[in-house]
Amino acid sequence: MPLPDQGKMDKLLIEGGSPLAGEITISGAKNAALPILCAALLCTEPVTFANVPQLKDVATLLALLMRMGVKVEHEGDIVTIDAGQLSDSVAPYEMVKTMRASILVLGPLTARYGEASVSLPGGCAIGARPVDQHIKGLQAMGANVDVEHGYIRASASRLKGARIVTDMVTVTGTENLMMAACLADGETIIENAACEPEVADLANCLTAMGAKISGAGSDVIRIEGVSRLHGARHRIMPDRIETGTYLCAAAVTGGQVRLTGTQASSLDAVIAKLIEAGCAVRCESDNIHLTAPRRLTAVSLRTAPYPAFPTDMQAQFMALDCVADGAATIRETIFENRFMHAIELQRLGADIHIDGNMAMVRGVERLQGATVMATDLRASASLVIAGLVAEGETMIERIYHLDRGYEHLDEKLAALGAKVQRVKP
Ligand code: UD1
Repeated sequence: MPLPDQGKMDKLLIEGGSPLAGEITISGAKNAALPILCAALLCTEPVTFANVPQLKDVATLLALLMRMGVKVEHEGDIVTIDAGQLSDSVAPYEMVKTMRASILVLGPLTARYGEASVSLPGGCAIGARPVDQHIKGLQAMGANVDVEHGYIRASASRLKGARIVTDMVTVTGTENLMMAACLADGETIIENAACEPEVADLANCLTAMGAKISGAGSDVIRIEGVSRLHGARHRIMPDRIETGTYLCAAAVTGGQVRLTGTQASSLDAVIAKLIEAGCAVRCESDNIHLTAPRRLTAVSLRTAPYPAFPTDMQAQFMALDCVADGAATIRETIFENRFMHAIELQRLGADIHIDGNMAMVRGVERLQGATVMATDLRASASLVIAGLVAEGETMIERIYHLDRGYEHLDEKLAALGAKVQRVKP
């Protein structure tokens, strides 16, 4: 991905050492909002969404939809999308390169518009990330798909229901195919489907729009195609990764926080690891209360598809292990190159040894502030967590990554008593 001019990018200055304390509200989930906003492409009536987070990625997706002739009304966390008149079915390279999730327009456009032309996402900082399963699934539903001049071009007069078994668990792949299948002729069965809560949230939204879906949230999803979907209202689920990130930040700083508007049941594996690290965690309806111990115990973990430990929380837990008592191993099984944050954490004094997809972390008594560079969204979050506990000042460069996925990060941290400051160019 070409990088914006560094001199013009915001930075985050953190003075470490303050235990986080207080209460904040968790925002709507980025990874639910992106597919769910694309679902509006499937129908000709307006669809209204609540709890939409104000994020760079959401803005990018809305800009992409508007480029296709979709009408968007946006007020606070409420977004109404009217895809009654589609003028275009192209997702150009310039937009897809800034956000891979743009691939989520492929299924809905092919199903509703009969054609789509979506730039092939390239590799990214965390790995190659192919989209072959999205393509194979659409082909199984009878679409003609060609990849030419860097674009996926799909067409179909009407998709047909099919049995699809994906080679690996893919979250956006499952979502793309589930959306496409809603308007297909006959029944589609997706096996080895992603069980992530965001897939279930998308299914809830599609069901409110008139789709016939069962099994979403399990690894077999059945979709009985219908001829049309209708307008609806849907509230986006809370962001489990944002929740986990603030819990880690509170844990590392020896703090005590209450997170409201969240859904503890969507992050059982993360909460279990925080308890193993020595935190006291209390979950009540839609809030989570965490009290950190005087010093955390290092926790080993292995990332895997839901309901196991999420790859999107791996970097934050590496930061936690960096200052915990003892040693831990972290095994990354989803993305092949997702340890970029380790090198930056080492610049803060962390003791990390990488061997292939395994990281060995030995906790140190203290980290020291330094200038570090964010390489991707969750890597940036790990640097923030490390900066909050490091001695002295940490300056994080390239925080546009954080703005892609964390709503009002600096304000929320400040509300919890962190000494953070966004430094404008
Ligand atoms: C989604 C999330 C991302 C999270 C990831 C894994 C969104 C918008 N993003 O990304 O935050 O880190 O799930 O939980 O929801 N793969 C293939 N071929 C495919 C599709 C995937 O080989 O056609 C591979 C990928 O390279 C990766 C693995 O499958 O190694 C899982 O990727 P996938 O679940 O598709 O990730 P995303 O949906 O892109």
